[in-house]
Amino acid sequence: MTALAEGEGIAPTHTYALRRAQLETYFDRTAVEAWKRLTSDAPVSGIRATVRAGRDAMRNTLLGWLPADLTGKRVLDAGCGTGALAVEAARRGAHVVAIDVAANLVEIARERIGADVGSGHIDFRVGDMFDPALGRFDHVVGMDSLIHYRADDVVRVLSGLAARTDGSILFTFAPRTLFLMTFLTVGRVVPRGDRSPAIVPVAEQKLRRLIGAEPGFAGWSVGRTHRVAGGFYISQALEVVRA
Ligand SMILES: C[S@@+](CC[C@H](N)C(=O)[O-])C[C@H]1O[C@@H](n2cnc3c(N)ncnc32)[C@H](O)[C@@H]1O
Repeated sequence: MTALAEGEGIAPTHTYALRRAQLETYFDRTAVEAWKRLTSDAPVSGIRATVRAGRDAMRNTLLGWLPADLTGKRVLDAGCGTGALAVEAARRGAHVVAIDVAANLVEIARERIGADVGSGHIDFRVGDMFDPALGRFDHVVGMDSLIHYRADDVVRVLSGLAARTDGSILFTFAPRTLFLMTFLTVGRVVPRGDRSPAIVPVAEQKLRRLIGAEPGFAGWSVGRTHRVAGGFYISQALEVVRA
């Protein structure tokens, strides 16, 4: 993993680093085959099919919030997984840095996509999305890559990225709904060896409050939001833009 540049930006917290390490283990080892299948066209169970459909809808929402023409724009796909969003952005002309802590997922993305995509380009990296050495961006997109972190850590990481972003930051969070809370509570009492690190639901109002109070987001404002909820997928997109 790329080391974080000393003394640059905001230091990640202990809780952030701990959760990142758990996610690396989970996505790089435990779940890599399941994730590879889910993100392919291969048949999946009914439950997973609803997740796949929800994820497709969410990706389209996020891509719809980026400019149609991304020629020459620098886009960070933060927690890129197997690279589905990165490839679409690159096809619109973006220079995408696609980074993920899970080396095996990045390898799958590399094999599936390659580096040259239409007029754009993808620079695949293994490491932390927060790494200041990645440079500046016009747009940052984090699809479902921050849903396992505490809300204060999410806002802290995003504000660190905001200092290096000129346009917008698009990310998703797990909305604190009755369905999701019940689902997660039931999930916790069902023993399962390969369980993913827990999702951390957050109320939209709390997220807005934290963003509003974060000095790193001075001069930014919250823009569009859109929730995708269907079957076993529930996630909400939020846009933060330079005012
Ligand atoms: C639910 S998956 C989503 C992947 C991809 N964005 C997509 O929608 O297909 C979350 C991804 O975020 C990655 N991730 C989590 N924390 C990260 C971090 N701090 N830096 C880079 N990647 C991270 C995980 O390894 C995992 O691949």
